Formats: sequence, structure tokens, C-alpha cells
Amino acid sequence: MGPVMDTAQLEDTEREAAARLQAATDPDQLRAAEYETLGKRSALAAFNQQLGQLSPEERRSTGQLLNAARARLQAFADARRQELEAEARAARLEAERLDLTEVPPGPERGHLNLVTQTRDELEEVFIGMGYAVAEGPEVETDWYNFEALNIPKAHPARSGFDTLYVDWGEPGSTLLRAHTSPVQIRVMQTQKPPIYSIMPGKVYRKDTPDARHTPSFNQIEGLVVDKAITFGDLAGTIEVFTGAYFGPAIHSRLRPAYFPFTEPSAEFEITCTICEGEGCRTCSGTGWIELGGCGMVHPNVFAAVGIDPEEWGGFAFGFGIDRCAQMRHGLSDMRVLLDNDIRFISQF
Ligand code: DAH
Repeated sequence: MGPVMDTAQLEDTEREAAARLQAATDPDQLRAAEYETLGKRSALAAFNQQLGQLSPEERRSTGQLLNAARARLQAFADARRQELEAEARAARLEAERLDLTEVPPGPERGHLNLVTQTRDELEEVFIGMGYAVAEGPEVETDWYNFEALNIPKAHPARSGFDTLYVDWGEPGSTLLRAHTSPVQIRVMQTQKPPIYSIMPGKVYRKDTPDARHTPSFNQIEGLVVDKAITFGDLAGTIEVFTGAYFGPAIHSRLRPAYFPFTEPSAEFEITCTICEGEGCRTCSGTGWIELGGCGMVHPNVFAAVGIDPEEWGGFAFGFGIDRCAQMRHGLSDMRVLLDNDIRFISQF
């Protein structure tokens, strides 16, 4: 019996089994190796079967040797499994890794158009003065665009707007708003005074594009409705806004004018931003440039929205956003704002 239970042979078997387990390079191979070295048909199992032929004492001591060898191999296999699983996990992570710091080559990032930037900056100035921002529809009715603003049918001021009509409803009833003033009406219909509001947005006119006109442009409307509002409040507001947006060298002045929705009305001019008042070609040597219109809200406008003109007063103003961008950046031609020429746009 002795040779069968040769401990050297058992040691060889254990060494070979360990080598076989160590040689597995992934969890599947390891499972196969475990079956071969520790399973029913393994060399180790063959030793077990021979135990029965031994004397009781030999059986006990040899059995202990076999059990110890089996336990060592099983522990070795378990350790190897953890190693292989960790390797597999690391390989998977590496394969799935995304380098989020990489900046792919390609077109440069875009940015807001100059007109949008200008609108945002103008809004900031007025928000800083306590105004809220409101918006209204670009497709309007005749009533909001004209009638409620004290411009009845056949009023000569209508011809000044070169209105674009929309083929909808009664002919002439629906249009692309020609100014942002109709939003004043909508704000007064939906909010109770006191009102301190600006209303930026796109407006449309049947204008032929040239250096100073585009058929679609942007305005900012301003409206204040409160008690004891004076023309001085209006003039002061425009002066503060002018300095805040264009800088301390730029001032404003008012000149008498006519608008149906305000009385009295004025045009407001600012120091020419090109020559800062010295006089140049842009300002025709006057040192001033016209920016927009303004005035005290007409009682008929208050009447249209049901605000009592005996109790409330107010002022309004309106000016071009594109014109502000043009003046601040010295653009000689307004059409560049609509051209989408990346060489121009990317400068701002
Ligand atoms: N809506 C006028 C225009 O587009 C500008 C304007 C003038 C707005 C006087 C006003 C105002 O609010 O009071 O020409």
C-alpha cells in the first residue's frame, strides 16, 4: 500500500494542481481548472478513493494530509478567482473609460448674437433701475398696434409706420407689429399701477434695407404708470439710462416732437458716440444723434385700458436696440446685424 500513498506523489499532485490554477487567465478558464484539479475526476479525488485500502491509522493520517492539500488548493483557487475578477473589472473600466477632459477639434463654440447681447445689457440697466421686463406677440391686431394707442383709422401717423399686414381675418385687421408700443397696452390691461416696465422685442416695417434701416429690427419700450409722475422724471430716467449704457461721456437731450400716444411728446437724442459731441460726419456736425421717442402717456391711451388719468400719470419711451448696438460699436451699416457673416459676428 505504501507506494500508493506516497506523500511525495501527493506533493507533486498539489504542485501541479496549483500551477494549473495559476495558469488560468480568466474566470472561465479558472472554473475549468478547478474542475480538473479539485473535481470528481481529479488526481486528488483518485487519492481519496484509495483511502479505503489503508489501515485505520494510515487512513486517518493520510486523510488529514489529503484534506489539508485540498483546503490549500481551494484557498489558492479562491484567491486566484478574486485576482482574475479584479483584473477583468479593471479591463472593463478601462475599455469603458471616457476622457471628459478632452477637447475635440472642431468648430469654435458659438455665442449670443450682438443684438441679443445688446438687448440683455439694456435690460440689465433698466432692471437695475427697478423695472420689470414684459413681452408681447409679434403678430398683433390693428387695435393694439394703432387704435388703443390713439391712432384711429385714417390717422396720418399710420402712414409713417409702413405696416406689414398678415392675411388673417378681416383685411387690415391683423399685422406684424410696427413698434413695441402695443405691449404697453397689454401690460396696462393685465397689471395694476404702479407699473415700471420695459418691453423689448422684434418689430417689422415695409422698409427697403439700407445702411440705417432693416425691415425687421428690435425696440425697447418703456412704461411708467404711477402717482405724481412728471416730465422731469422722464428726462431724468433717460439721462440715467444713457450714462449707464453708453458711459459717463454720453448725455441725452429732449426735443419737442409729436406722437399720438403721448402728450407732450419728445424725441430724445444722445451725444454722438463717434465724436463724443465734437461734431462729425455721423452726427452731421451737430454732436447729437437721435435715439428714440418719448412723452407723457396720453389720456386717451389710459382710457383705452381703463386707467383713470385723474388718479394716475405716466411716461413712455421707445428706441431701437439695433441702433444702440450700431452707435456703441460704431457700425456704419445696420445690415451686418442680419447678414449672419461669421467674420463680423465673431468679433463680438
Ligand atoms: N413707438 C414709437 C416708434 O416706433 C416710439 C415711441 C415714441 C415709443 C414715443 C413711445 C413713445 O413709447 O412714448 O416710432
